[in-house]
Amino acid sequence: MELLLMKKSSSISTIFTKKIIQMNNVSTSYDSKNYALKGINLSIDKGTNYAIVGKSGSGKSTLLKLMNGMMSPSEGTIKIEYQTPKMNDKNFKVLMHKIGYIPQSLGLIKNISVLENVLIGALPRLGKIQSMFKIFPEKEIQEAKNILKLVGLSGKEERKAYMLSGGEKRRVAIARALMQKPTILLADEIVSELDQATAREIMELISDAQKRMNLTAIMVHHDIRLALEYSNRVAVIQEGEKILEIGIEGDKIMDFETGGLTNQEILEMYSDESKK
Ligand SMILES: Nc1ncnc2c1ncn2[C@@H]1O[C@H](COP(=O)(O)OP(=O)(O)OP(=O)(O)O)[C@@H](O)[C@H]1O
Ligand SMILES: [Mg+2]
Repeated sequence: MELLLMKKSSSISTIFTKKIIQMNNVSTSYDSKNYALKGINLSIDKGTNYAIVGKSGSGKSTLLKLMNGMMSPSEGTIKIEYQTPKMNDKNFKVLMHKIGYIPQSLGLIKNISVLENVLIGALPRLGKIQSMFKIFPEKEIQEAKNILKLVGLSGKEERKAYMLSGGEKRRVAIARALMQKPTILLADEIVSELDQATAREIMELISDAQKRMNLTAIMVHHDIRLALEYSNRVAVIQEGEKILEIGIEGDKIMDFETGGLTNQEILEMYSDESKK
């Protein structure tokens, strides 16, 4: 018995987890008076697409900022692959470089080319001197061109970012994030403001990248229908609180958190039409 136990414990040295992000009772505030988020619990499986939906000001962007360490919770705990996200923490920096973050404003540099914008994603893995002078090895340039092809922007490598359409700008932001070789992609309203067809193209692009790279995507959306269509789970945030976590199973919308609302009520509450 003892031998068996010893054998077992000596051979098991690493714990593997399917959960890539976990938040336990997380609250945060910008001014230490009002909560931007309150009592958030969530758990995201590796390789899945997790959507965050809610009205303007509900706390969606704040939630993403907590996940990449730009903000810290005032209460509760966050773990990303067992680490606490904190921007200035040396240990977290290694993991942070594997988190592709696309802010709501996209964060492109307007006056440089599409290719240069994408190459910015490679900076964390280059040496200090190379980074400082933005000297990119041929291998990285080739990689950036391959990614641009993947996102449908071949032939536009030299175009300045400000000359692109809204949809194209989003493709560049995705390409820059993919250039990081991320394990997690955080995208803040990347398809809001686009027409349905372009929004779907971008979502297909992300689904495809997820399959190729076993990427976990956490995406903020305004339209709950689109979120349900492309995501495994959709968290609905209202005034800083997570009030629902839903997903499609077969032909049903499953409520994983709470009960009580009909499908129609959920859709009516949070569909795009209700933004007005
Ligand atoms: N830098 C800041 N300083 C102070 N308060 C902020 C700041 N950023 C956001 N807030 C407040 O925190 C709350 C949540 O904001 P957040 O940007 O997370 O909302 P959101 O759901 O992303 O909204 P939107 O859909 O308009 O982008 C809001 O009340 C907002 O006014
Ligand atoms: Mg926002």
